[in-house]
Amino acid sequence: MDEALFEYDSVSICNNGLGLKILDQTKLPNEEVFIILQNEEDFTDAICSLKVRGAPAIGIAAAYGLSVLMCNSGIKSINDYHNEFARIKNLLLKTRPTAVNLSNALNRMEDRFLKISKDKNITVEQINQKLREEAELIKNEDIGSNLEIAKNAINLLKPSMSILTHCNAGHLAVSRYGTALAPIYLAKSKGWNIKVYSCETRPLLQGARLTSFELMRAGIDVTLLCDNMVSSLMSEGKIDAVITGCDRIARNGDTANKIGTSSIAVLASYYKIPFYVAGPSTTIDNDSLTGDSFVIEQRSPEEVTEMWYSERMAPKNISVYNPAFDVTKSQLISAIITEKGIFRYPYKF
Ligand code: MRU
Repeated sequence: MDEALFEYDSVSICNNGLGLKILDQTKLPNEEVFIILQNEEDFTDAICSLKVRGAPAIGIAAAYGLSVLMCNSGIKSINDYHNEFARIKNLLLKTRPTAVNLSNALNRMEDRFLKISKDKNITVEQINQKLREEAELIKNEDIGSNLEIAKNAINLLKPSMSILTHCNAGHLAVSRYGTALAPIYLAKSKGWNIKVYSCETRPLLQGARLTSFELMRAGIDVTLLCDNMVSSLMSEGKIDAVITGCDRIARNGDTANKIGTSSIAVLASYYKIPFYVAGPSTTIDNDSLTGDSFVIEQRSPEEVTEMWYSERMAPKNISVYNPAFDVTKSQLISAIITEKGIFRYPYKF
């Protein structure tokens, strides 16, 4: 992978463990502003308002959030530490319900905490240090997974292919490289000439604002289209494969991803275009047999009626349907690529 394509990590610890530096994604593509999260409100607001977003990045930010907030709590007794840890974990857990990386990362932090706090001689300072190390490990493992996803997924691609993607599953959605976009960066490093079509991704425009931004920055040929133009594009024979990211994968391969993904999968099936999903195994929800039990985040009506417009574009009091994710049935997915390999239907991870 050509490291020069990535100028910074989207999420990184700072101020000696007392802050988390993130690129505020709500300001992109017009402003590249880094902000530092330090208190509870900073963290919950950043995750809920999508300043930091993308399933792996949310998990990493929440793990660091636990570490930073416990360091900043000033708590000195182990008993108080237990109570505060549980409270903060719960608070972060409630920020966004669909991406399982969030609960996986927080549960992992809790397991580590419960294990180390069994040592009666351990100090609060030592616990803080070990929690920070665990969060760092979660981030570094994610970076490693993304590289492996790139190496696995590139086997499904060819130079000069045209690929459609939805939402943003790139460098910005993780801490480095991305999931769906990682093989495209690897292809670029090999000198391949891949062309990407990026769906705008209504209503929050992750494709227009983020995917277009990061691919153009890396010198990758990218064309933007509205979500309702996919069938037209596919019918013209312009798409060789679709690759998207994922927020939660059930044991049978049903996959939750950004709203609109399942309609692209249906279209890809109709036009006989391979539809691939890429994600780290931290996105697999071992507690869900199928996608039917997934909790789908519902977001505010204003994202549809007025956000991005200079004036409101729907009648006042109109009822609005605004789920943030949908579930693609596993039968529609040609392959799921994780750091462990390429899986195909019927899925067994
Ligand atoms: O609401 P978002 O922007 O957090 O949704 C993100 C997605 O749907 C991504 O495709 C998914 O999290 C994978 S990111 C590697």
